[in-house]
Amino acid sequence: MADLIFPDGFLWGAATSAQQIEGGRHAGGRGESIWDRFAATPGKIADGSDTGTACDHYHRWRDDLRLMTGLGLGAYRFSIAWPRVQPTGTGAPNAAGLDFYDALVDALLVAGIEPFPTLYHWDLPQALQDRGGWAERATAEAFVEYTATVVHRLGDRVRRWVTHNEPWCIAVLGHEEGHHAPGHRDPAAALRVAHHLLLSHGWATAAIRREVPRAEVGLVHNYCPAYPASDRPGDHDAARWFDGFFNRWYLDPVFKGAYPPDAVADRVAAGHLPGPELPFVRDGDLAVIAAPQDFLGLNYYSRVVMEAGPDGRPRAVPPAPDTPVTDMGWEVYPAGLREGLARVQRDYAPRRIIIAENGAAYDDPVGADGRITDTRRLDYLRGHLLAARQALADGVPLAGYFLWSLLDNFEWGYGYTKKFGLFALEPGTLRRIPKDSAFWYRGVIAANALPDATAPQTQGDTRAFDQ
Ligand code: FCB
Repeated sequence: MADLIFPDGFLWGAATSAQQIEGGRHAGGRGESIWDRFAATPGKIADGSDTGTACDHYHRWRDDLRLMTGLGLGAYRFSIAWPRVQPTGTGAPNAAGLDFYDALVDALLVAGIEPFPTLYHWDLPQALQDRGGWAERATAEAFVEYTATVVHRLGDRVRRWVTHNEPWCIAVLGHEEGHHAPGHRDPAAALRVAHHLLLSHGWATAAIRREVPRAEVGLVHNYCPAYPASDRPGDHDAARWFDGFFNRWYLDPVFKGAYPPDAVADRVAAGHLPGPELPFVRDGDLAVIAAPQDFLGLNYYSRVVMEAGPDGRPRAVPPAPDTPVTDMGWEVYPAGLREGLARVQRDYAPRRIIIAENGAAYDDPVGADGRITDTRRLDYLRGHLLAARQALADGVPLAGYFLWSLLDNFEWGYGYTKKFGLFALEPGTLRRIPKDSAFWYRGVIAANALPDATAPQTQGDTRAFDQ
């Protein structure tokens, strides 16, 4: 049983982000974000939806706080919307925007829940995009000003800060593949974007520490391990190729102060860089990026299996038909979490690691008894928490776990069709309905342990989340 118990002080959390849950598009003087603009562009969002209302968290946050209290959360990871704080990305702060987060932070602290904010979860003010967005170094400078503004206001109460969420998604999905805002398809620009994100992370780290010397700062990376499809050297090289551009492109600069030479060579070969010199890197940038971090946040959802295609080029192998996948089509592969944590620890030795997101999209209906029996999510969570527990036993300095997500919400290009929440939203009323996994997670947090898999699954106190 000891192997199911977590260490004392292990941080149990849940995560959301502003654009995905807040709504209140125009409330309190909020400016336009690139995701507002992207969602308003026909054909970009699978269900044609937008985030004008989303989960209406902007107005219902006190109800949502009661859900968090019901869960017994130790921490809540949310993001701050830059367009609320600075509607056009620079200049004087918007008081109503800062007041919103100020009140949320205060209320979380009263509830005994650590506020764990992310400064940038993809909602760039559109005004900055109009001036070139993250492809421009000036946006990195603006991010530091925004960071200082937020930390000046909240830093007396917030101890831990995340700078950026998943720079790979911003750079590649947003600027190379065009699936995310701003929807560009320019691989060379994506490399500039990645660099400016990393640079702004380094600058913001210093700005946060200047404002609050005892603050702790970290970056969140979406870690995706790559496995070769076979022992063939070409497949091994395909896995190296993926890992280089997905994981090491971000982790190497932050922890080693250098871009990975093999991945740079891959980009040169692809014609995305003129040569091994990165034209957008200026003297001193890498030292800024490599500022020591207090923790590393990792988001883990799945793995990728890579092979050399018939033309020799690397490509992903889709999961075999009998492999369990979530509604995202992502393979359920908890072993990748344990192995990934060990690998990150071995290669980068962060002071502490926090699983900043982990969870699964499954669509389960409300039953005749009013319950949402999301057994597959529960199995997913159990498997991954077991892997996390094993990583702790392996000696990984894992300090916490944030479940993605508190609520079903706007899943970017998929709109509201992918449901990651512990709570569903009743169509029309947006009433929050706890899924079985919410009751289960509540039990895990209360016990600081995983229940024995053979124990019968009960809801426990069905009034836990009454509103
Ligand atoms: C991550 C994002 C988060 C959510 C999950 C499913 O990449 O950080 O906002 O969309 O995936």
